[in-house]
Amino acid sequence: MKKVDDPGLDFETGSRTQRDPSYGRLKTEGLDTTHGAILYLEDITVSFDGFKALNKLTLDISVGELRCIIGPNGAGKTTMMDVITGKTRPTFGSAFFGQTIDLTRLTEYEIAHAGIGRKFQRPTVFEQHTVFENLELAMQMKKDVRTTLFARLTSEQVGRIEDILKLIRLNGEERRLAGLLSHGQKQWLEIGMLLMQEPLLLLLDEPVAGMSDAETARTAELLNELRGRHSIMVVEHDMAFVSEIARDGKVTVLHEGSVLAQGTMQQVQADERVIEVYLGR
Ligand SMILES: Nc1ncnc2c1ncn2[C@@H]1O[C@H](COP(=O)(O)OP(=O)(O)OP(=O)(O)O)[C@@H](O)[C@H]1O
Ligand SMILES: [Mg+2]
Repeated sequence: MKKVDDPGLDFETGSRTQRDPSYGRLKTEGLDTTHGAILYLEDITVSFDGFKALNKLTLDISVGELRCIIGPNGAGKTTMMDVITGKTRPTFGSAFFGQTIDLTRLTEYEIAHAGIGRKFQRPTVFEQHTVFENLELAMQMKKDVRTTLFARLTSEQVGRIEDILKLIRLNGEERRLAGLLSHGQKQWLEIGMLLMQEPLLLLLDEPVAGMSDAETARTAELLNELRGRHSIMVVEHDMAFVSEIARDGKVTVLHEGSVLAQGTMQQVQADERVIEVYLGR
């Protein structure tokens, strides 16, 4: 995959930092991350009629980390995201957001409001609304924004939407109906909608599935720009894409509901067990 750098989207420079000096910094407010981790999963087991989709899964994600999760179909990757977001309750084990928030005791709604944003594989945007309106709606869903639907936005709010439009490569498309966007553009819009809510941890399940090569390359750029600003967990099967965003960071390989291997992309690609169950297919 072609690597494209875009220095024009550096969040530390330019007008966007003047509008909102806090934007672009890693956010952990309200969350106790004194031990350096934003997410801790320990011995998580999920049984479906005796079948263990997750089997004593233990994994943690550091604050600001971009962690890639790979592994064969049925390894439990989506089930893990279901546990983190409260969609599925573990049969056994613990899941903590920061030091103190026990995810197994919260509803899906409470978890979203605690700062975990999730993107499902299929894009879910409001097709009858414009790109701009979709981002605006997403902003209204954030709990501390006290405006009524489509009320006049403050210049700061407009600035924030414009920043996100650039980041998701949809500036110039803001008046288009979301339903008319390409599949890849809808995926970006949905990522933008999640970002409007300023999640502390972002979960992306197969973000480039169904994208063209060019769209996949741009998504890798986008994620590289988000690096260090959000803690992010990405599940993908596209290994070129994973190499592009993992860089020297940790990649976790799941197999049969537990961690099979963990290390840099180079290390896991050279691991005999990983080649056997996944990469060598
Ligand atoms: N609600 C459910 N009831 C029964 N079995 C389930 C349920 N959800 C998932 N499973 C099973 O759990 C296992 C793990 O599924 P999961 O969707 O987490 O895998 P995955 O790693 O995301 O795979 P893929 O790469 O294909 O998306 C699979 O065998 C799946 O059939
Ligand atoms: Mg899955």
